Amino acid sequence: MADNTNIISEEKEGILYLTVNRESKLNALNFDTLEEIRNIFNEVSDNKNIKAVIITGSGEKAFIAGADISEIAELNELNARKFAENGQEIFSLIENCHKPVIAVVNGFALGGGCELAMACHMRIASANAKFGQPEVNLGIIPGYGGTQRLTYLIGRGKANELMMTGDMIGAEEAKSLGLVNYVCESKNEAMAKAEEVIQKIMSKAPLAIGMIVDCVNAVFIQGENGYQTEANSFARCVKSGDYKEGTSAFLEKRKPVFKGE
Ligand code: COA
Repeated sequence: MADNTNIISEEKEGILYLTVNRESKLNALNFDTLEEIRNIFNEVSDNKNIKAVIITGSGEKAFIAGADISEIAELNELNARKFAENGQEIFSLIENCHKPVIAVVNGFALGGGCELAMACHMRIASANAKFGQPEVNLGIIPGYGGTQRLTYLIGRGKANELMMTGDMIGAEEAKSLGLVNYVCESKNEAMAKAEEVIQKIMSKAPLAIGMIVDCVNAVFIQGENGYQTEANSFARCVKSGDYKEGTSAFLEKRKPVFKGE
C-alpha cells in the first residue's frame, strides 16, 4: 500500500484496516484524504492479498465529521459540481468493491462521513455513534451520494426528515432504521464484531461475494435490469472452480476450500 498522510493502512491476515487520521479535525475529509481513499481502493481491487476492508476513524469521538468545511467554504458555482462528482466517484469505488467493506462507526458520522459509511457494504456502530446529514445548516445539500443512499437505506420519509432538519440520530435509532447492522458498546467491540462478520465472509466463495455486490448495486442503477444482472452473475459463478469445490464439498460431506478462481 502506497504511503498515505491522512489514512493509516495496515494489512493483517487478509484484512486491510483503514483509519482516517485527522483526529484534530474530527477526521473531516479534505481533498487529499479523498484522493488517498481513491488510490487505496484502486489498489484493493488488484491486490490478491487483500480479502476485505474495515474503515474507521481515528480516536474515540468521530468516525468522520464530514467533508472539510474549510474547503467547502471556498467552492464556487464552477467547481462545485466537480466537487460532488469527484466524491461520488470515489465512494462508488467503495460501493462497487468486490471485497467486503465494513465501516466501524466510532462517533460522529456526519455529512460526507455518513455518506462514506453508507457507501460501505455494512455499518457497525459503537454506542456513541451519531449519524446525520447536516449540510442544510451550511446552505448546501449532501453531495457525495447521500440524497440517494440515505433514501434507499432508510426510506423517503425519514431521509427527507434527516436531510431537511439536519438532525443527528444515535446508534440505536440508526439501527432501527436499517442504517447500521449492529450496535456495540465500544469501538473495540465494534471492531471485533466487524472482524467476526468479515471472517465469516472470507470463508465463502470470493467470486460469489463479488457477484453479490454487483447484483445488490444493480437494484439502484436506473435502467439496469437487476434480474438480468443476477442471471448473468449466477452463470459466471457456475463457470468458477469455487462452484465445483462448493458443490463437491457438500456432496462429499466436507468443508469447502475456496480459492477465488
Ligand atoms: N470540517 C472541518 N473541520 C471540522 C469539521 C468539518 N466537517 N468538523 C469538525 N471540524 C473541526 C472543528 O473546526 C474543530 O477544529 P479547531 O479545533 O481547529 O477549531 C475540531 O474539528 C473539533 O471540532 P469542534 O466543533 O470543536 O467539536 P465539538 O465537539 O464542539 O462539535 C461537531 C463536534 C461534530 C458537532 C462539530 O464539529 C460539527 O458540527 N462539525 C461539522 C459537521 C458538519 O456540518 N459536517 C458536514 C459537512 S458538509
